[in-house]
Amino acid sequence: MSKGLFITFEGGEGSGKTTQINRLAQNLAQKGHKVLTTREPGGTPEGEKIRDLLVRREGGNWTPIAETLLLFAARQMHVEKIIKPALEDGKIVISDRFYDSTTAYQGYGHGQDISIIENVRILSIGDFKPDLTLILDIDPQEGLRRSDRRLAAEQFQVKQREDRYEQLDVEFHERLRRGFLEIAGQEPERCHVIPALQDLDAVTAQIAEIVQTKIAG
Ligand SMILES: Nc1ncnc2c1ncn2[C@@H]1O[C@H](COP(=O)(O)OP(=O)(O)O)[C@@H](O)[C@H]1O
Ligand SMILES: [Mg+2]
Repeated sequence: MSKGLFITFEGGEGSGKTTQINRLAQNLAQKGHKVLTTREPGGTPEGEKIRDLLVRREGGNWTPIAETLLLFAARQMHVEKIIKPALEDGKIVISDRFYDSTTAYQGYGHGQDISIIENVRILSIGDFKPDLTLILDIDPQEGLRRSDRRLAAEQFQVKQREDRYEQLDVEFHERLRRGFLEIAGQEPERCHVIPALQDLDAVTAQIAEIVQTKIAG
């Protein structure tokens, strides 16, 4: 058993994951916890290279299985080199997305067989799981509007814009949303669904309460 706590944030584009992770990390650090924030795809220098292949607008035209394998290649290194050592060190590790995103995007979104994704998961990271997963649930139209505003503010060149998934149609994003809710239904102990249309402070407060309960328990 590791000494730390592994928390993942999941949900569609623009649901508020990155914003809420920053707030939670600050809140926990103020309480004296050692905190590490990280993200997927990415987390290691090698994983960040894979990220560019997957999330940039012109990253590539992957088959679903190739995309799943790339995601788990990055994730395997992320778990071994970053997440597990930090947990051993007693840190609270917070990841912006983890394997539920692969199940949601490649499985529910792109229609890849969920059992294949499960097999690749076990092969890559065994039975390693988050202790707690917070799923920010939002109407995809509103999430994509928020995401558009954020991307516009970033002013990357078009080729480097991290919007390959945002470019997919709204039906894809509806399937994603249903996928995340289904995952939460299957693992209610680990996964908590948080309505993300509320104002920022209300979402932050709800997350803080769930995390405190988990730390106390
Ligand atoms: N509860 C909220 N209400 C209004 N705007 C929000 C809320 N949460 C996040 N935002 C804004 O929406 C945009 C996307 O949020 P972000 O945290 O980047 O989402 P994600 O990481 O899930 O894609 C940001 O500009 C952020 O300031
Ligand atoms: Mg984000």
